[in-house]
Amino acid sequence: MAASASAATALAFSSLLLFVSSVFGGNFYQDFEITWGNDRANILDNGDLLTLSLDRDSGSGFRSNNVYLFAKIDMQLKLVPGNSAGTVTTYYLKSEGSTWDEIDFEFLGNLTGDPYTLHTNVYTQGKGDREQQFHLWFDPTADFHTYSILWNPEGIIFSVDGTPIREFKNQESSGVLFPTKQPMRLYSSLWNADDWATRGGLVKTDWSQAPFVSSYRNFKADVCVWSEGVSSCSSGAHSAGGGWLSENLDNTRQQRLKWVQRNYMIYNYCTDAERFPQGYPPECTLNTAA
Ligand SMILES: *[C@@H]1O[C@H](CO)[C@@H](O)[C@H](O)[C@H]1NC(C)=O
Repeated sequence: MAASASAATALAFSSLLLFVSSVFGGNFYQDFEITWGNDRANILDNGDLLTLSLDRDSGSGFRSNNVYLFAKIDMQLKLVPGNSAGTVTTYYLKSEGSTWDEIDFEFLGNLTGDPYTLHTNVYTQGKGDREQQFHLWFDPTADFHTYSILWNPEGIIFSVDGTPIREFKNQESSGVLFPTKQPMRLYSSLWNADDWATRGGLVKTDWSQAPFVSSYRNFKADVCVWSEGVSSCSSGAHSAGGGWLSENLDNTRQQRLKWVQRNYMIYNYCTDAERFPQGYPPECTLNTAA
């Protein structure tokens, strides 16, 4: 009797766990590890703020302690102000190994008064070549803005202040690779890329402005944490949990996405005919919003 009661309790408890994905956020000390740059990366304000800096000798970076198999991540960033040409701030999810998956935001600095380029890419099994670039509708150095990655079994959505800027749908059933099996970690870095980032390397980083600093706050993550081969969300969470794991773009947000793409997209691999003389990658023709 006692044994079966506790078995029932254990069962009830484990089925409760099925529907719970983990929520993290708020403390950089708990959620992240500084991986390079030594004292160029700093956690401040009791874990509420993180800053990265770049000087002539080195950039800096951090990564999440956890790895995720599906995630909805929000982070507020304030980018390097002034003459930031040649600097690159990265913020991305990436798995391990030679056939990795990766979901990228990169912010390419510019001369004072000239717009940043927001560069995005999606890698599946080690292959990227899916660049889309945007200008922003605000000055990303004047204040913090929220940059989000939603990665779930339906697709990947990149958003800025809640406005979707890019969607990469899961079209595995049509033969397009999509990341569903390799857990990813969140990374961010600030580094010098003046060999390519600014007009193909024409504008060099102005080291008299160093150190360059980018800032982070309000990390928030709804995630399925992957640990020793087990996800903190089971397959049950997908259907029963609803929410972010099955979220996709409703009509209103589709319209917002189109608005951004019409007005702020400056490069789209899916319309670069010269680059794909043999025809566009399959996701470009299957999915107009690719
Ligand atoms: C910098 O500003 C120029 C001029 O507006 C623009 O053409 C370019 O795309 C911007 N971005 C980078 C990374 O150079």
